[in-house]
Amino acid sequence: MKKMLTLAAMVLAISACSGQQVEQNAAPVKVTSLAGEMKVTDVRPANEMSVYPSRGTSIERTFEHQPPLVPHRDTYAISASKNGCLNCHSTEKAARMKATPVDATHVKADGSFNNAFYFCDQCHVAQAENKQQIVGNKFSK
Ligand code: HEC
Ligand code: HEC
Repeated sequence: MKKMLTLAAMVLAISACSGQQVEQNAAPVKVTSLAGEMKVTDVRPANEMSVYPSRGTSIERTFEHQPPLVPHRDTYAISASKNGCLNCHSTEKAARMKATPVDATHVKADGSFNNAFYFCDQCHVAQAENKQQIVGNKFSK
C-alpha cells in the first residue's frame, strides 16, 4: 500500500512538470464561420412541412436504372415487424392496390422478397409538391 502511494505521488509530481498548463496570455484565435457573420444564437425558421400528392403518378426517370422517385408520402412505417411499403408494392398485393410491383431485382429466385431491399427509403425518395431550392444542382445526363 505504501509503495502504491509513493508511486502515485511520483506520477503526480512528474505530470505537474510536463508543461501542459494552459497559456494564460495567448492571443485570441480569429475564426470566421463559413456561414458568415451570423450569431450562433440566431434561429432560422424551420422548413415548410412537405406536402405530397395524395394520388401521385409515376415520375419520369432521369437516368437508366434510377430507383424511381416516390410520387406519394414516404412516412409508412418500416420496422422489424412490418413494412408499410410492401402492403401495396409486394408482388402479391400490387395489382390489387393498383401499384407497380417491386422490381424483379428485389425478388429472390423462389419468388419471395429479398430482404436486402427491405429499407425502401434507402434508395427511393419522395418528391414533395412544395419544393424548396436548398442547393444548386448541375446534374446533367
Ligand atoms: C396505399 C398504397 C401504397 C403504399 C403504402 C405505398 N405506395 Fe408507393 N405507390 C402507390 C401507388 C398507387 C403508386 C402509383 C402507381 C405506380 O407508379 O406504382 C405508387 C408509386 C410508387 C413508386 C413509383 C413507381 C414507378 O415506377 O414510378 C415508388 C418508387 C413507390 N411507390 C415506393 C413506395 C415506397 C418506398 C413506399 C413506402 C414508404 C410506398 N411506395 C408505399 C401505392 C402505395
Ligand atoms: C438498394 C436500393 C433499393 C432498395 C432498398 C429498394 N429499391 Fe426499389 N428499385 C431500386 C432500383 C435501382 C430500381 C430500378 C430498377 C431498374 O430500373 O433497373 C427500383 C425499382 C423499383 C420499383 C419500380 C419497378 C418497375 O417495374 O418499374 C418499385 C415499385 C420499387 N422499386 C419499390 C421498392 C420498394 C417498395 C422497396 C422496399 C420494400 C424497394 N423498392 C427497395 C432500388 C432499390
